[in-house]
Amino acid sequence: MRIGIFDSGLGGLTIYRTVRERLPAYDYLYLGDSARTPYGNRSFEAILKFTTEGVEYLFSRDCHLILIACNTASAKALRTIQQKLLPAKYPDKRVLGIIRPSAEALAQKSAGSNVALWATEGTVRSESYPLELAKLAPNLHLAQLACPMLVPLVESGELEGSGLDYFLNLYWRKTLALSSRVDALLLACTHYPLLYPAIRKIIPPETEILIQGDIVAPSLEDYLRRHPEIETRLSRNGKEDFLTTDQTEGFDRLASLFLGRTVTAMRAEISP
Ligand code: DGL
Repeated sequence: MRIGIFDSGLGGLTIYRTVRERLPAYDYLYLGDSARTPYGNRSFEAILKFTTEGVEYLFSRDCHLILIACNTASAKALRTIQQKLLPAKYPDKRVLGIIRPSAEALAQKSAGSNVALWATEGTVRSESYPLELAKLAPNLHLAQLACPMLVPLVESGELEGSGLDYFLNLYWRKTLALSSRVDALLLACTHYPLLYPAIRKIIPPETEILIQGDIVAPSLEDYLRRHPEIETRLSRNGKEDFLTTDQTEGFDRLASLFLGRTVTAMRAEISP
């Protein structure tokens, strides 16, 4: 039984990269729904449908535990999958998301801190992060901002330069309009870690920048330690496979940008 990693496309590779570095022994199957990416601006219904299809496809391909390595899909589909799909159809399988561990990382900041996050429109509108933080750390002030230009810029390979800096400065000014002080900024979208060097140059050094891979990988390790009934069912041959719902050439070409190494993906037909 493998660990499935699901994302709307390529971005989840930034999470998978850290997960595999930290937990190299397990077998992984990555599925990117590149034919329907981006999810960022889509409706709740569409994201739930696409994510459910992806999850069920990974279950049919020997995955016992699935990590939804996408903020938008975690925000809009995870709860329904956990509360309805799993009990009804897959009671012994598990699906995890990346919002809860990321919110826990923010919650560790001291009470009264001002934290902020940048994410897609869908993640921000879902209010998932404020809802989690209200439970975990009600004294933290959270400012959240949708940064819709950043995913297309990353996917066009614009990781530096004046065009990118224009939007980063714009988003930082908007963030400061919401919260005059920002102690920590969470990059709550899978694509944004690729912009870290450019973001770091624009945002003052006193603001800590949190990268989700660094949060999610130790959190998954901890989950596996606490759930031996799941962990013992996972195979450990150090293997990985990559699937995309779109043309494999495009996936392979951009995957190296996100993963830091080349991969050869296979095509998956997941829609009914
Ligand atoms: N993976 C998405 C996320 O983390 C970004 C790309 C998309 O909009 O599909 O929110």
